[in-house]
Amino acid sequence: MEKRKFARMDRDSSVIGLGAWQLGADWGEVSEDTAFATLAGAVEAGVTFIDTADVYGDGRSEQIIGRFLREHPAGSSVTVATKMGRRVEQDPAAYTLNNFREWNDRSRENLGVDTLDLVQLHCPPSAVYRTEQVYEALETLVQEKRVAAYGVSVETCEEALAAITRPGIASVQIVLNALRHKPLEEVLPAAAEAGVGIIARVPLASGLLSGRYDENTHFPENDHRTYNRHGGSFDVGETFSGVEYHIGLEAVRRLTPLVPEGATTAQFALRWILDQPTALSGGVSFSASAERDSTGKSVTVVIPGARNAEQARGNAAAADLPPLSPEVHEQVKAVYDELIRPQIHHRW
Ligand SMILES: NC(=O)c1ccc[n+]([C@@H]2O[C@H](COP(=O)([O-])OP(=O)(O)OC[C@H]3O[C@@H](n4cnc5c(N)ncnc54)[C@H](OP(=O)(O)O)[C@@H]3O)[C@@H](O)[C@H]2O)c1
Repeated sequence: MEKRKFARMDRDSSVIGLGAWQLGADWGEVSEDTAFATLAGAVEAGVTFIDTADVYGDGRSEQIIGRFLREHPAGSSVTVATKMGRRVEQDPAAYTLNNFREWNDRSRENLGVDTLDLVQLHCPPSAVYRTEQVYEALETLVQEKRVAAYGVSVETCEEALAAITRPGIASVQIVLNALRHKPLEEVLPAAAEAGVGIIARVPLASGLLSGRYDENTHFPENDHRTYNRHGGSFDVGETFSGVEYHIGLEAVRRLTPLVPEGATTAQFALRWILDQPTALSGGVSFSASAERDSTGKSVTVVIPGARNAEQARGNAAAADLPPLSPEVHEQVKAVYDELIRPQIHHRW
């Protein structure tokens, strides 16, 4: 599979990774056997990047990943990005060095490693991104070899831009998909310029962009697509990308005719993200710089969540699709501009 580089981590990643929230909780039931099969499906299809968090199933996702990677022959070639900060009340005062150490130590134990590859602040309150001591504490974790690198996961473009100015930030994780275009405007160019890796999450708009749902689709009670549809538990932008369900369905119906022959709607949606250039104009016009991504593409890795091996393999295969044509990109933009932009563009 194509690989892209995290400049500040001196590490590369398969362009398609695996989002492992599903292997923890909040997406209905995923058995342990299915979770192991999902990881095997991804890794054996060339995935070398897995995203998780200490809160996914209160550590279940991390523990399963740790066990899987220790047992699998390709385990040592996989980068695991975890997250910290959401096991406590969302108060900026909780983001202290001592708490970071405690949270990291729990993740190290769950994953069974001495040093975590990448730790991301897990969408903390906005003030945290502007707090000097937070960045000093993150540097200390690197010096202590608890973590090899650190990054942030953000809700808004504003938070992403604040984090990108910090010299030690290796990665920014942000919602980016065919129904969420705002990061293309400023965040992706700024990250490319600074050499900060971009991890594109919720790439299928919580599955909407798989094209499998309709007005009668039922999601289980313990699935955030039921209980967080209006933001009851966490930021509503994480559920269907913040798009009202019926509007999302209409947008996906209009995108479906653009899907290339032989590809699935999900693969088309992932390819759209992989194609995004470092500059919005579509021209790869930046001058050469050691820190810039040599591919001229701005997303380092896309992390579709998968609940079974078939989905994981299907998603990995999106990397084999040829880039979509400029005309198709224009048509995706037209659907966004008409149906989605008025509803969400100003929000995140
Ligand atoms: N705050 C944060 O930092 C944050 C927030 C959200 C997500 N994340 C990370 O980002 C990852 C990805 O986002 P996400 O999981 O929320 O949303 P997503 O990747 O947009 O959607 C995942 C859902 O899409 C469907 N799907 C996946 N692959 C498919 C395929 N090949 N064919 C058909 N359907 C497919 C599945 O739906 P069904 O379940 O209906 O089968 C799956 O549960 C997460 O796993 C997590 O690691 C981080």
